[in-house]
Amino acid sequence: MATQTRPAWAPEHVPDKLLWDHSLTEYNSELDDPFMAASRLLDGPPIFFARDTAQGRPAWVLARHALISEAFIDWERFSSEGGMAVMLMQMLGVDWTFNPVNIDPPKHTAYRKLLLPHFTPKAVGHMEQGVRETCDELIAPFAEKGGCDFVKDFAVPFPSVIFLRLMGMPQDMMQQFFTWEQNLLRGKNIEEMVVAGREILEYLKLHLEKQKKKPATPLMEAIMSARIDGKPLNDGEILGMFYTFYTGGLDTVYGTLGWSMRYIATHPEFQQWLRDNPDKLNKAVDELLRMFSVVMTQRRVSEDMTFHGVQMKQDDLVFLPIFVAGRDPEAYPDPHVADPDRKQTMLAFATGPHLCLGLHLARREIRIALESFLARFDNIHIPDDVQYQFHAGPTLNVDSLPLAWTKKD
Ligand code: HEM
Repeated sequence: MATQTRPAWAPEHVPDKLLWDHSLTEYNSELDDPFMAASRLLDGPPIFFARDTAQGRPAWVLARHALISEAFIDWERFSSEGGMAVMLMQMLGVDWTFNPVNIDPPKHTAYRKLLLPHFTPKAVGHMEQGVRETCDELIAPFAEKGGCDFVKDFAVPFPSVIFLRLMGMPQDMMQQFFTWEQNLLRGKNIEEMVVAGREILEYLKLHLEKQKKKPATPLMEAIMSARIDGKPLNDGEILGMFYTFYTGGLDTVYGTLGWSMRYIATHPEFQQWLRDNPDKLNKAVDELLRMFSVVMTQRRVSEDMTFHGVQMKQDDLVFLPIFVAGRDPEAYPDPHVADPDRKQTMLAFATGPHLCLGLHLARREIRIALESFLARFDNIHIPDDVQYQFHAGPTLNVDSLPLAWTKKD
């Protein structure tokens, strides 16, 4: 009788029936729309073990809204410390971690408390004027041209400029930051990623030294003057925060904007509904965030346990693809349709202790961007002869989205 050999990537404690011999990135790239491609996982087992979740890592995947929410809330068993973050720290050659995103409570609570006042709806309200100005400045060069590449000309630079403002960095660093970010997240090889990651770090270190002398913004002031247990933050704690703002607030916003605009440009009735119901734009933004939840994050199992009948071991890695949760019909009936009247809350910003700190800022950026395009241009569409491009990975992003429109009088 032939004996079947187990693949080398399959740990002993994972039963054969839960092994999934695929790359998640490749699987999500199989269709023209990665959200539709990923949503096929909802027809399979709710928990499975994939050969390659990201960067060749075998790991568990939770493929239901309810399970992903539960893992976000249950931080004691699903820890944010360790896991993929360790790989990034090794890559950067540092002994600190991403702060507060890769730190568990109760330590996490103190860091979050000091940052929170700068990300409340009120604080973000004070940024509104600057966000609008940035939006206008970016639209001006192509406003008369009847079209643009929405991603390259707008969605990418927009959150970068806002990040630079938040940090008090010079605006002319935008192109450099974007190049670093592209190389860090999608470098041709690991060497290119490491180089970009370290160059960003060097720049953040320079910025930190300047902030020690004279903080450039209220957020910088708060971080520099903070005391936790009576002690100021050390360089690693602060650089961990800077790095988190950098990686947390750029790809995510531009990804959501790209997918949302693609939906708007290919659904003329929804587009007109948005123009006719400006008072409902906030709800519509949340619905677009639900449909186009771009993030997949991960956790480390902190103790041997049985989770919904599945045996997991301490230090197993667990991936939480929020883009699958957003399309789960158990949570959202008719999940592939934008329905701004939906009552259910969305999970794009996670839930539990690490609920996205930048959520009010992100929502506002997206609302202002969509509002500006809808108010200026009619009949926004993708020209027939062009192709949009995207890539799948830990975030789902549009790389190129050519648009055309009729300018309003
Ligand atoms: C549409 C845009 C955005 C999406 C979808 C998003 C999504 C998320 C998600 C899913 C998490 C939880 C990660 C985890 O627990 O593993 C998170 C955390 C975080 N995000 Fe965002 N984010 C967005 C924009 C922003 C912006 C603009 C900022 C501002 C700089 C930001 C700052 C943060 C921070 C600091 C955390 C860590 C919070 C904590 O650990 O307590 N995000 N975000």
